[in-house]
Amino acid sequence: MKRYLITGCAGFIGSNFVYHMLNKYKDIQLVNLDKLTYAGNLENLKGALGDPRHIFVQGDICDRELVSGLFEKYRFDCVINFAAESHVDRSITNPEIFVETNVLGTVNLLQCAKNAWYEGGRWAVGKKFLQVSTDEVYGSLGEDGYFMETTPLCPHSPYSASKTSADLFVMAFHDTYGMPVNITRCSNNYGPYQFPEKLIPLMINNCKTKKGLPVYGDGMNVRDWLYVEDHCKAIDMVAQGGRDGEVYNVGGHNEKPNIFIVKTIIKELHDKYDDTIDESLIQYVADRLGHDRRYGIDPTKIRSELGWYPETPFEEGIVKTIDWYLANEEWMQHVTSGDYQKYYEEMYKNK
Ligand code: NAD
Ligand code: DAU
Repeated sequence: MKRYLITGCAGFIGSNFVYHMLNKYKDIQLVNLDKLTYAGNLENLKGALGDPRHIFVQGDICDRELVSGLFEKYRFDCVINFAAESHVDRSITNPEIFVETNVLGTVNLLQCAKNAWYEGGRWAVGKKFLQVSTDEVYGSLGEDGYFMETTPLCPHSPYSASKTSADLFVMAFHDTYGMPVNITRCSNNYGPYQFPEKLIPLMINNCKTKKGLPVYGDGMNVRDWLYVEDHCKAIDMVAQGGRDGEVYNVGGHNEKPNIFIVKTIIKELHDKYDDTIDESLIQYVADRLGHDRRYGIDPTKIRSELGWYPETPFEEGIVKTIDWYLANEEWMQHVTSGDYQKYYEEMYKNK
């Protein structure tokens, strides 16, 4: 049986990863360490909480005693670190927490893994530390070209600076101590359980509640969208077969300008939810500071080495996603009550 420490898996991608792993592997143990910040939600895991293969632990990845106790108790074979502060806009207003969780938290996990796996000058066999990173570490593209694993790191936002710093620590543990590591760098994900501070669920929720749709700048910034299940599959493949010390970019060549995404959501909701939802809801608002213009991933390496490819075309994934949010109104109500209202007012008041 393979034993995993997975962190941050009450959040968007992590909860989808839990379901992916439980559906795929019978003989597995997942210890899910999550602090349950505003972005973490046990409702995301309701299909996994009763499963004996999944053990949920509420706690902070920065907590040395807790994490080393988990290593002692469960003798992990693999750590997959999803835990992070993940929202760029929040990092612009409050960078410190991004350093704490994304940098110091990752270093704490690396230290605990090293203490558990490195004995008598040798690494225990069959171990791996997988860092779930982002294409934002590469900065921004012009009109042409793609991010490759060899593209120089050039982060712009406090979020991406913190993720880059974490990546550098992961590689430092590999280069200095020989730790077995991989890093995945994925483009923008969409799908079920995404917190409605992010573009797609925010626009779906605002359409439904007939709020304005705040499009930053000219709406022509480009993101490379990937259905979350395809990302989960890539992480699983890298965990099983990634070459030691290697970085793998993950993306499905699905670049779209933001305004295209917003108009697609409007059309879909107009047709299937309420025909008074239309483009008059769009509001062009002040741009995000330091807004990266374009992301685009070259996934050649993961495709040729591990056979990964995206299975869900955008046209299908976006419909599945919208249908999920329409079918899970209660989930949306829970996550948008309380603190979310304050967040929304603060974030968008000057826009
Ligand atoms: P999310 O914000 O939805 O979830 C983050 C989770 O981490 C939450 O459950 C939260 O409670 C938990 N967490 C936060 N701080 C913690 C701490 N100190 N200790 C333990 N748990 C903590 O994020 P997401 O979108 O699911 O992203 C997951 C990972 O994937 C992140 O590392 C992010 O950088 C990376 N990533 C995200 C995307 C994307 O499009 N969302 C794309 C590429 C990479
Ligand atoms: O590229 C991977 C990254 O994708 C991940 O590392 C991050 O964790 C994840 O949050 C995401 O970052 P983005 O900043 O690209 O995602 P977000 O959904 O916040 O924004 C997507 C685009 O939409 C971006 O160009 C900003 C724009 N936007 C966003 C919001 C929230 C708007 O125009 N209006 C909005 O209200």
